[in-house]
Amino acid sequence: MEQQTGMKEAAGRAAVDALVHSGMKLGLGTGSTAIFAIRRVGELLAQGALNDISAFATSFQSELECERLGIPFYPLNSRELSGGLDLTIDGADEVDPHNRLIKGGGGALLIEKIAAYASAAYAITVDESKIVNSLGAGFPVPVEVIPAARVSAGKALEALGGTVTLREALRKAGPVITEHGNLILDIRFTAPINPAEMENNINQIPGVVENGFFTRKAPVVYIAHLDGTVEVRGKSGQA
Ligand code: A5P
Repeated sequence: MEQQTGMKEAAGRAAVDALVHSGMKLGLGTGSTAIFAIRRVGELLAQGALNDISAFATSFQSELECERLGIPFYPLNSRELSGGLDLTIDGADEVDPHNRLIKGGGGALLIEKIAAYASAAYAITVDESKIVNSLGAGFPVPVEVIPAARVSAGKALEALGGTVTLREALRKAGPVITEHGNLILDIRFTAPINPAEMENNINQIPGVVENGFFTRKAPVVYIAHLDGTVEVRGKSGQA
């Protein structure tokens, strides 16, 4: 556990140190790895090594961390960001050999995907446990659905070969309600799937808002290993 936390921190710091420059419009991801990237940005701002950062926080969790660290953050629609980012740094639940991803373990997939596609460059930070040969065999893919489509979308997802579980909240009775008032259906696939096709097919289902396959924008991936090294896989992080 401690070792894994150390890897998450190493990946987050390495990405920020390599990619973040003063004056950037910066998307900040969600989760226990992305938070280390946020903290590194906060640290560099406090030291004066970085300045003039306009951040976009992809979740309530990221907003709170920005608030705590004094990182200026704005809505994506604001005049400061005008719907575009120079770089987004985030975490992931699975990364395949083509740098395609499953994201949304923390339920923030919708805004994370909007940030990824609104960014000129895209970086993912993970520890080595997130690296897989094929997506969807281990980690369930989250699908955000509007509450009225819980049953109908669930049936359509089963027809695509998935086993569907409504995500339950911890320390609150009932399901997880996303920051957009929706539900999360976690889908397990037993047979091998084509992630790019599945990403499209799932989004055709009425009532589905977004799903956690990220296949159309190859990020540069910072992978922290147990031996203390951080491997960089992929080039520019451009679409
Ligand atoms: C949040 O919804 C996610 O996409 C996270 O980025 C992803 O689940 C990875 O989280 P951890 O870094 O906490 O494993």
